[in-house]
Amino acid sequence: MKLFSAETYKNRRNNLKKNIVKGKILFLGNNEAPMNYTDNTFRFRQDSSFLYYFGINLPGLSALIDIDNDQEIIFGHEFSMDDIIWIGPHESLASLAQKVGVEKTISPAEIDKYINKNALHFLPQYRFDNQIFIAELLNQKTNELKPSLELIKAVVSQRSIKTHEEIVEMTKSVNVTREMHVTAMKATAAGKMEYEVVGKILETMHAHNAELSYPVIFSVNGQTLHNHYHGNKMQAGQLAINDSGCETEMGYAGDITRTIPVSGKFSQKQKDIYETVLEMEVSSIESLKPGLMYKDVHLSANKILLTNLKTLGLVTGNIEDMLEEGVGGLFMPHGLGHMIGLDVHDMEALGENYVGYRNGLDRSTQLGLKSLRMAKELEAGHVITVEPGCYFIPELISRYKTEGKFKEFVNYSKVEEYLDFGGIRIEDNVFITETGHQILGEAIPKTREEVEEIMR
Ligand code: GLY
Ligand code: MN
Ligand code: MN
Repeated sequence: MKLFSAETYKNRRNNLKKNIVKGKILFLGNNEAPMNYTDNTFRFRQDSSFLYYFGINLPGLSALIDIDNDQEIIFGHEFSMDDIIWIGPHESLASLAQKVGVEKTISPAEIDKYINKNALHFLPQYRFDNQIFIAELLNQKTNELKPSLELIKAVVSQRSIKTHEEIVEMTKSVNVTREMHVTAMKATAAGKMEYEVVGKILETMHAHNAELSYPVIFSVNGQTLHNHYHGNKMQAGQLAINDSGCETEMGYAGDITRTIPVSGKFSQKQKDIYETVLEMEVSSIESLKPGLMYKDVHLSANKILLTNLKTLGLVTGNIEDMLEEGVGGLFMPHGLGHMIGLDVHDMEALGENYVGYRNGLDRSTQLGLKSLRMAKELEAGHVITVEPGCYFIPELISRYKTEGKFKEFVNYSKVEEYLDFGGIRIEDNVFITETGHQILGEAIPKTREEVEEIMR
C-alpha cells in the first residue's frame, strides 16, 4: 500500500486539531459495496477524508481523533486465519496504523466506549451503510444526523490547499490521463464503435495501475454532458467528446477533456466553435492567479463565447446584456470548473457550497452559472479544472424557442443549423501558484493542428 510518511498524516491531523479545539472527531472509512451479493463487490474506494488523515486504503475501518484525551485510534479487525485463507497474508492493521503515525488499534465493537454521543464531530455521510452505522452509534435516525459544520469547514480549508507531495501525485495521474487521451485520439475513426475506443482508454489506464476517477464520457453525442452510453458507431463528420481521467493508487484524480473529429479533420463549422472553446480555455487559464474570483473567470469565458457566437450570427445584441441575462447558459449549461484532488469534484460529499462559495457569495439560479461548483477567490495551493464547452442541445433549443426565451438575443433559425453538431469541451487541471498558475502534467494535444496531427 502506497502511503505518504507518518509525518504527513500526523501533521494533517495536528493542523485539524488546531481548528477543532475540543471534542472528538470520528472519521468513517468506506466498506466494501456489494455488486449483486455480499461477497461479489464493486472496486473498493476508500473515503477521501479518511485517506487524507489516515491513509490506509482498506475497507471496514474508522478512526477517532480524541482531542480532549490527546489520543488517536483506528478501529478495525486484524486479519483472521479465514481472511488469510481467502485473501492471502496481509500486513497487520497495527503495523499499517504505525505507518500513518497512529499507535492504537482497537476492535470496532469497542467504539462506543471511546466516543461521546452528545458531542461527536463527524462529516456528512454519502453511503447508506455509514449513515446507518453512525445513526445506530448515536441512537438517532439517519435523517436526523447532524454533521459538524465546524469540522466540515476545517476539513475543506485544509484539503483545498494542496502540498507539494499531493501535486506530485496529481501530476502523475494527469500524465497517465494524457496517455489515455492520446490513445483515444489515435483509436478514433469512422466506422468504429465508441466502446472500442473506451476499451483502449481503459487498457492504457490499467497498464499504469490506475483506476477511473469517474466513469468515462466518450460520445459522439457530447451535447449530453455526462453521457455514459458507448454504443454508437462513429461517423465521418461527427465530433467525439472524450472526458476521461484516472486516479493513482493513492487516490488523486485527473479530469481531462478533449474533443476529437471522427474523420481526423475538423470541418469549417466545427473549427469556428472549436476555436471559440479553445480561446475560452486558454484565456481563462492565462488569467488564473490567487485572489481572482473564479466566478469572474466563468463570466469572462462566457463573454468570449457570446462574442464569437455573435460574429457567427448565432446571437445578436449587447454582450453585457446577454451576460446579465445568462444567454451563455443555452450554449454552456455547466460551470467553468471545480476543485479537484482526492475526489474528482473535490470534497463534494461535504457540501458543494462549502467548497466553492463563501459568506456573501451566493449561488446563482441561472442555467449555467447555477452549476458553477467553484465561484470564490482562488488561493495558492488550489487545483481546479478549467473546462469550457459549447453545445447544441436540440431539446433545450426547441424549448427555449417555443417559450420565446432570449428571443431578442438568439437567432434561433441560425442556431437550428447546428442541431446535429453535438458539442465541444476542452478541460485541463490547473494548480494555482503564489504568482500565477501551472497546468498539471505534460501538454496534451489541444490545438486543432495538434489533434489532427496525432490522428494522422
Ligand atoms: N468529468 C466530469 C467533469 O468534468 O466535471
Ligand atoms: Mn471532466
Ligand atoms: Mn471536470
